[in-house]
Amino acid sequence: MSYTAETYSLLSVGKIVAGPNSIEAVKDIAVDTGVQKVLIITDQGVWNAGLIDKPMSILKEQGVQVTVINSTPPEPDVEQVNQIFQEAKASDCQMIIGIGGGSSIDVAKIVAVMLKNDVSLRELLKAPKITKRGIPTLMIPTTAGTGAEVTPNAIVLVPEDELKVGIVSEKMMPDYIILDPLMTLNLPKAITASTGMDALAHAIECYISKKANPFSDTFALKAINLIARSIRTAYNNGQDIEARHDMLLGAMLGGLCIATSSTVAVHALAYPLGGKYRIPHGLSNAILLPHVMKFNMDAAAEKFKNMAVAMDLKVAGLSAHQAAEKMIENLYSLISDLNIQVNLQEKGISENNIDSMAEAALKVTRLLNNNPKAMNKDDIKAIYKKLF
Ligand SMILES: NC(=O)c1ccc[n+]([C@@H]2O[C@H](COP(=O)([O-])OP(=O)(O)OC[C@H]3O[C@@H](n4cnc5c(N)ncnc54)[C@H](O)[C@@H]3O)[C@@H](O)[C@H]2O)c1
Ligand SMILES: [Fe+2]
Repeated sequence: MSYTAETYSLLSVGKIVAGPNSIEAVKDIAVDTGVQKVLIITDQGVWNAGLIDKPMSILKEQGVQVTVINSTPPEPDVEQVNQIFQEAKASDCQMIIGIGGGSSIDVAKIVAVMLKNDVSLRELLKAPKITKRGIPTLMIPTTAGTGAEVTPNAIVLVPEDELKVGIVSEKMMPDYIILDPLMTLNLPKAITASTGMDALAHAIECYISKKANPFSDTFALKAINLIARSIRTAYNNGQDIEARHDMLLGAMLGGLCIATSSTVAVHALAYPLGGKYRIPHGLSNAILLPHVMKFNMDAAAEKFKNMAVAMDLKVAGLSAHQAAEKMIENLYSLISDLNIQVNLQEKGISENNIDSMAEAALKVTRLLNNNPKAMNKDDIKAIYKKLF
């Protein structure tokens, strides 16, 4: 028997604590690290939702000095991250806690490594010259979407290039993570929907990616199962703790998929929507997901059948092709059940822009090359056309 051994790797974080009220673990983590000065990086929405109060009071009870930066903008650009870095430097902190969605977590990751490496953000965006790990980090996601808490990536908007650029470095992997569903109970409906679909896209894309491997396959099918069974409940009844917990676990597993496999054409085609037209990351991916999967279906029918099984769809006795069709139908109905829609005209996009968007998407070869079916410019244009 011939056997071709393949090599793959899995990056992981130091410690993950999960479950309702796991926010209490902030106390143990403070004791464990022995830090005296902590910086919390978050955003206005999370701050106004009162989600910083509890971790802050736990830290203060431990005698830890806490500074808060709550000005992280959604999907921050280079200057905005630099501004936060300057404030962080002035705080003289020994540990960073990122509390929020992917935006706050990504900024927390970047700031932590910049505090330890003599490198500018512009340099990092060109090629990460990160030789040392950053100061210790704890990430507490309050959306169930990006999985940024377990990826080595951080995404920054470069406005002059109309591009979002990913910094990728093992040195940015967080030290501690807390996944507390109680932190997500009041996440607004539309954000629950779009960020949840982003998480689902991570799992689906990594499962069919050319970079898929036994690690990502395991995480992907479990993520698909958890998200498919709970996303509608989390959307319709945000206070459902079990559904919120499934979503946080599913999103984290989706992030672990990214850490060992790769997203493919959905995320590649989403880049121009975010970079140029500022459509939020989750929403861009959500609206593209069913169309791109319909395109990919024939190239990975068996895998689509496995995903249909993970989604608990009734596919026994169906051919791989029939099961794949059922899985795609389910993605379309999910988009409709979650009321996910975006008026591209309102975002300043007309059908005349499709050509330049396709050009921009074609440049995302890092992801497009891993798509199971080759995608040319006409294929991409046809998919964008479906969004109108
Ligand atoms: N690092 C990675 O691996 C990775 C992967 C994918 C995406 N990203 C990046 O992450 C960013 C998007 O992150 P996101 O989708 O999580 O959204 P986000 O962090 O931009 O947050 C979206 C909005 O939700 C609000 N919000 C968050 N949690 C809340 C809560 N519990 N209650 C009330 N309001 C809440 C925030 O205030 C904000 O207005 C983008 O910049 C994207 O490029 C990073
Ligand atoms: Fe994503």
